[in-house]
Amino acid sequence: MSHTFTVEELLAYDGSDASKPVYIAVKGVVYDVSASREFYGKGGPYEAFAGRECSRALAIMKVDAAECNGNLDDCTEKQLKTLDDWIAKFNTKYAVVGKAAEPGSAQDAGGAKPGAAAAKPGSSGKWQDEAVDMEEIKRTMMRLSPFTPGLLATLAIVGLLTALAAYVLYIDMTGQQPLEPHTEL
Ligand code: HEM
Repeated sequence: MSHTFTVEELLAYDGSDASKPVYIAVKGVVYDVSASREFYGKGGPYEAFAGRECSRALAIMKVDAAECNGNLDDCTEKQLKTLDDWIAKFNTKYAVVGKAAEPGSAQDAGGAKPGAAAAKPGSSGKWQDEAVDMEEIKRTMMRLSPFTPGLLATLAIVGLLTALAAYVLYIDMTGQQPLEPHTEL
């Protein structure tokens, strides 16, 4: 069972305490980004993200603390795609350590109290449902894979042409002299 962090709990991992790990939350998924303390720790270029839900900031490519929240309502398709690309990167780079409650939700208010989450089975917010959408993760990984259908088709054609060239060369080298006009004289 993964832990659901309240907004306040998550904030404890904002990098200000060097003895604690640094966490960021993206679409309600909490990542341990301690390995990149130079980015997210105190004084780092992305310190505003630490200890917070930063989906919006990542989508619109802003490092302002004011944009560190989960509101994606006015984001364009392109910005949502940018966010998906960040998520794909984080999924390969960092460990997931839990979920983040939606601010102001029942989980946010009660998550810190023991038993509060267990008392409400299946009450996960919409972020949690999206967070475990394996199909979405697979689609993102397919999109980021270097083996696009176009590349595979090109590789297949190059392979066929190489085989054909090797065959022609083989015929050429193993005798089978082509009939030339002077041989008929
Ligand atoms: C002049 C503008 C910028 C430059 C030159 C820049 C440059 C870089 C560089 C060199 C890295 C390190 C990449 C790596 O080693 O993996 C990085 C990481 C990162 N950048 Fe920027 N960046 C810029 C703007 C932004 C903005 C506006 C955002 C807002 C979303 C952003 C978000 C990030 C994040 C989240 C990482 C860390 C990714 C990770 O954890 O691996 N950057 N940036």
